[in-house]
Amino acid sequence: MAPLLLLLPALLQLAVAKALPLSCRNVTCGDHVVQYPFSLNSSASDCGYPGLDLLCEDNTTLILPVKSHRYRVFNIDYDTHTVAVSDADIDDGEHAGGCPRLHANLSIDTTSSWLQLTQSDSNVTFLYNCKKNISLYSAVELVGCREQDGELRTYVLPDGVTTGAEAYEYECEEVVVAPVLDQHKRMIVGAPGGPPPPVDNGSFGVVLQGGFELMYSRNSSHQCGTCERSGGWCGYGRNEETHGGREFTCFCDGGPAAERCGTCAPSTSMTFR
Ligand SMILES: *[C@@H]1O[C@H](CO)[C@@H](O)[C@H](O)[C@H]1NC(C)=O
Ligand SMILES: *[C@@H]1O[C@H](CO)[C@@H](O)[C@H](O)[C@H]1NC(C)=O
Ligand SMILES: *[C@@H]1O[C@H](CO)[C@@H](O)[C@H](O)[C@H]1NC(C)=O
Ligand SMILES: *[C@@H]1O[C@H](CO)[C@@H](O)[C@H](O)[C@H]1NC(C)=O
Ligand SMILES: *[C@@H]1O[C@H](CO)[C@@H](O)[C@H](O)[C@H]1NC(C)=O
Ligand SMILES: *[C@@H]1O[C@H](CO)[C@@H](O)[C@H](O)[C@H]1NC(C)=O
Ligand SMILES: *[C@@H]1O[C@H](CO)[C@@H](O)[C@H](O)[C@H]1NC(C)=O
Ligand SMILES: *[C@@H]1O[C@H](CO)[C@@H](O)[C@H](O)[C@H]1NC(C)=O
Repeated sequence: MAPLLLLLPALLQLAVAKALPLSCRNVTCGDHVVQYPFSLNSSASDCGYPGLDLLCEDNTTLILPVKSHRYRVFNIDYDTHTVAVSDADIDDGEHAGGCPRLHANLSIDTTSSWLQLTQSDSNVTFLYNCKKNISLYSAVELVGCREQDGELRTYVLPDGVTTGAEAYEYECEEVVVAPVLDQHKRMIVGAPGGPPPPVDNGSFGVVLQGGFELMYSRNSSHQCGTCERSGGWCGYGRNEETHGGREFTCFCDGGPAAERCGTCAPSTSMTFR
C-alpha cells in the first residue's frame, strides 16, 4: 500500500501538468529548463511575456533573440529574475590575443521592453579600424585587431563613455558599445580612478565572452498581475485581425480566459495550441 500512496502526489501532479496549455509548459533545451514567463520556439508567443521567447539551437544552445541579433543564454535565475547572456556573434578567431569583433550594439528598447540591464553591468566601447591613432588616457589598443599593416587600429574605451564623436574624430569604421559584467571588467582594467593594470589583447575577448546580466520584469501589467494572481499564465498572442497586434489571454488549467482564472467562460476569440 505504502508505495502506491507515495505515488499519488506524483500522479496528481502529472494530471495537473496535463491540463496546462501546451505553450505554458516547462520545456527543456539541453541542460536548460525553460519556464514561464519565457517560452521556447513559440512563434506566436502565445504563453509568456513578449520578448521572452527563446530559441533552441542544436538542441543545446539557448538563444535570446533581440531584434535581429542573437544572445546566448547561459542561465536563467527564476528567483532573482535575471538572465545571464552574451553576444552570440562575437568573432574572436578563437586564438588568445585575437580580435574580439562585435557587430551590433545591444538594441533593447529599455522603455518598452520587459528586459533591462542591471547594476552588475557596465559598458565598454570598441572603436574598430581607426585611421588615426587614439591617444586618449583610457584608450587601449587591441593589437590583435590591426589591419593593413597597422594602418587601421582598433581601440577600447574601458569606461564605456562615448560621445559618438570619436568615430568621426579618429576616422573609425565602426563603434560598438557593449555591456559586460563590471566585475569581469575590473579584473582587467582595475577600479575606476585606480591605476590601470596592464591589459592584454585577449582579455577583452574573454570579458565579452563572460557576457552580462539582464533582468526581466515580473511586474508586467495590471492585466497580467490579475491573471497571475488567479493562478493563470499571461499570454500575448498575435491577433490576425489587428495585424500583428497582441491580444491578451489568461491561460488557466481549464482553458483560456479573457481576464482571470476561475470566473469567466473561456474566451472564444482566441485559437490556442
Ligand atoms: C516548472 O518547473 C518549476 C520548477 O521545477 C515548477 O515550480 C513549476 O510549477 C513548473 N511549471 C509548470 C507549468 O509545470
Ligand atoms: C525551433 O525553431 C527553429 C527555427 O526557428 C526550427 O529550426 C526548429 O526546428 C524549431 N524547434 C522546435 C522544437 O520546434
Ligand atoms: C533534438 O532532440 C530531439 C528530441 O529530443 C531529436 O528528435 C532530434 O533528433 C534532436 N536534434 C538534433 C539536431 O540533435
Ligand atoms: C550602457 O549602454 C546602454 C545603451 O547601450 C545604456 O542604456 C546603459 O545605461 C549604459 N550603462 C551604463 C552603466 O552606462
Ligand atoms: C600610430 O602610431 C604608430 C606608433 O605607435 C605609428 O607607427 C603610426 O604611424 C601612427 N599612425 C598614425 C596614422 O599616426
Ligand atoms: C552603437 O552606439 C553608438 C553610440 O551609442 C553609435 O555611435 C554607434 O554608431 C552604434 N553602432 C552600431 C553598430 O550601431
Ligand atoms: C597582443 O597580440 C599580439 C598578436 O596576437 C601579440 O603579438 C602581443 O604580444 C599581444 N600583446 C599583449 C600585451 O599581450
Ligand atoms: C508596474 O510598473 C509600471 C511601470 O513600468 C508601474 O506604472 C505600475 O504601477 C507597476 N505595477 C505594479 C502592480 O507594480
